[in-house]
Amino acid sequence: MTTIRIDRIDDALAALREPNLAQSLYDEGKVIMDKVLLTLHGDEHRVRRMLEFRVFRRSFFRYYETEVFPRALDDVLTPLVARGGCDLVEFGHRITVNLTADFAGVDRPLRSVDETETLLRFVKTFGDGATLVHSTRDKDVVRAEVRAALADFETRFLNPSIARRMALLTQCSQGTIDDAALPRDVLTVLLQNEDKVELPPDVLCREIAFYLQAGSHSTATATVHAFHEIHAWMQSNPEDRSRIMDDPLFMQRCVHESLRLHPASPVSWRKPLCPVTLRGGIEAVPSDRVEIDLYTANRQVDVYGEDAARFNPHRSIPAGHEPFGLTFGTGVHTCLGRDLDGGVVPRGVVDPSAHQYGIIALLIKALLAANARPTSADPASAATHTARPMWGRYPVVFG
Ligand code: HEM
Repeated sequence: MTTIRIDRIDDALAALREPNLAQSLYDEGKVIMDKVLLTLHGDEHRVRRMLEFRVFRRSFFRYYETEVFPRALDDVLTPLVARGGCDLVEFGHRITVNLTADFAGVDRPLRSVDETETLLRFVKTFGDGATLVHSTRDKDVVRAEVRAALADFETRFLNPSIARRMALLTQCSQGTIDDAALPRDVLTVLLQNEDKVELPPDVLCREIAFYLQAGSHSTATATVHAFHEIHAWMQSNPEDRSRIMDDPLFMQRCVHESLRLHPASPVSWRKPLCPVTLRGGIEAVPSDRVEIDLYTANRQVDVYGEDAARFNPHRSIPAGHEPFGLTFGTGVHTCLGRDLDGGVVPRGVVDPSAHQYGIIALLIKALLAANARPTSADPASAATHTARPMWGRYPVVFG
């Protein structure tokens, strides 16, 4: 197999939009990723994406960001601030598991610490399965852990969540409640399945498990990176401190800058379904792997400037490019959680009181408001269980 590497942003955009290149980064992680939205192709992908897209509307994101999420954030952050410190990596996972459970449609009826911890353990194991290709552990051991976690998750969380939604759907079809009383989540639209998408129980289970980990893991990781970059910037550029705290559009700009530098996965992989001529004229055939290097493309100096590899929220972004680069992908697999996490990219004049800033900006603002800061007594360290560049521990103190 020949690997064709693409690391220029325009070539990467073209490859990600090429219909004859199919997803292949998750072939090793089939134990959790087989037949989930991200690994489907062609019509099968289009139909399922259209069905699930109903949950991911901008109007709902703004409501979620202003009404639902601040309460969940408060519940998690207040006790940690009272305790005087926490590990941001753990905080990130604990808070984002609520976020993705809400969107996936996983009920947490007890709302207890134990229940959240159990769900968190499942999500971490699912995440290890999805990113198996980058794992530094014995892959068969990871696969066995994922299989066991899926079975347990199905019994403890998924089946009760399905039963509650089926009862509501029956009431809805009998006219005793109306559509507005139904939960707004992926599981509900899949059970409603107005588009008659074929979805056997094992696929449904993996799909919901995939959502839980896809959103939670990447949001948690991106939040820690953003905190690190923004805190360091405030230290070296004290004149920007009050702007970061008081101007939410500038805070969002800072988050986008961090997302550009730290894509959740440094690469996307695609396999040609037939001979394909890539932008630039290279021929790719089905036995090749096309590796799209998002990390390098996002740091291209003739697009983002001479200092492209550094965090600088004042850089200007050329027309036709996103401030977060390729971090949320592009084309048919563009991240469904992009606007939820990153907010809407401000274009021209925007009304700050009506703008949607994204969950990550909200998280960083809350952390900085609590005066969260790294501590030299317990320095942060990189993760060792994966080759992906991310923080393993990031202790902070508050107050
Ligand atoms: C900073 C946070 C996030 C990052 C960096 C991120 C990144 C990505 C990327 C790069 C892709 C496309 C992969 C490819 O083309 O190979 C993707 C797809 C996806 N993401 Fe995200 N994501 C984030 C958060 C979320 C959240 C919060 C959710 C859900 C609540 C979510 C749901 C999805 C789904 C469902 C897909 C598959 C879309 C499809 O295949 O049609 N993501 N994400």
